[in-house]
Amino acid sequence: MSSKVLLTGGAGYIGSHTYVELVAAGLEVVIVDNFSNARRDVLDRLEIITGAKVTCYEGDVLDAGFLDQVLAENAFDAAVHYAGKKAVGESVENPLDYFRTNCVGFSTLLAALDEADVRRVVFSSTATVYGKPDILPLPENHATRPESPYAENKLICETLLRQLKTSDDRWSYGILRYFNPAGAHPSSLIGEDPNDIPNNLMPYIARVATGDLARLRVFGDDYDTPDGTGVRDYIHVVDLAKGHIQSLRKLIDKDESHIVNLSTGTGYSVLDMLRAYEKACGKTLPYEVTGRRAGDIDGFWGDPTLASNLLGFKAVRDLDDMCQTSWNWVSRKTNSRNRP
Ligand code: UFG
Repeated sequence: MSSKVLLTGGAGYIGSHTYVELVAAGLEVVIVDNFSNARRDVLDRLEIITGAKVTCYEGDVLDAGFLDQVLAENAFDAAVHYAGKKAVGESVENPLDYFRTNCVGFSTLLAALDEADVRRVVFSSTATVYGKPDILPLPENHATRPESPYAENKLICETLLRQLKTSDDRWSYGILRYFNPAGAHPSSLIGEDPNDIPNNLMPYIARVATGDLARLRVFGDDYDTPDGTGVRDYIHVVDLAKGHIQSLRKLIDKDESHIVNLSTGTGYSVLDMLRAYEKACGKTLPYEVTGRRAGDIDGFWGDPTLASNLLGFKAVRDLDDMCQTSWNWVSRKTNSRNRP
């Protein structure tokens, strides 16, 4: 497959890992990023990993003129869209901001793509669109009940893609509903690097392991789960990234739209994650059990069957690999920061 792909948000956590896999699969990739939640040196690191020059346009998906220029200068076969905001709690506080970036940004991109005759889109969605599960593992035909502006934004974007396809059959889409991404690239050159105190479990544990945060706060141990702590389906970011290649193949080679979970089918609790991270970093990590976090649910994990049948997707990296690569990444960063 030799095609040219536009990758919005390509300097971010999942976007940068996807960039590496796209290049490895022989695709030509152009990144668009506004660097609002990504560092510029990610581009240098991507060049080291891939051994090739990175093409990146700095700008915003809300800027139609900017997008037109990028699209005029490149003949794309497809787009993979990540650029957006992703903190559930923040979305509750700033619904307007979230709607603008996530929904208006995406519709601006789609309009520019349409104008440029690029009608294959892989969209980064989330398992959060399901809301509280009726059954587990969660299949794709489960009801969608978004419980936050962030989840609602993602569902609106999914709906828009489906409506576009209905209006014009030349569109095709791959909607990928991610479960909980974790881990880092084996090179330790790219990984998750939140600007503020992390909201999510894995990067929080990582900061406890580096000594930047004193202890993990376990949000509740009275859930209806084996050890009482919340259970989630953690998926290695490299597996997740590879899923995008399979989704793109389906669009480019077969023109088949799809909505699939990117999940492992297995759930781990907060304490499972802590123990696995302790094993990876070789330290005991302090924690305290605090109250439940508003909006959290007991447990959910995905049904990976459809992704396997439709795309041939299978997550193969295990929890130890997620923790080890995360630890390698954060400890390498901490060491270089402390170097004189
Ligand atoms: N948790 C803690 N302490 C922390 C952080 C999290 O105990 O400091 C617990 C949570 O209560 C939950 C589990 O760890 O039980 C996972 O929490 P995360 O915040 O890492 O992940 P969520 O499942 O809440 O949500 C994440 C992303 C969403 C995404 C969703 C997809 O934040 O954007 O996964 O499944 F949509």
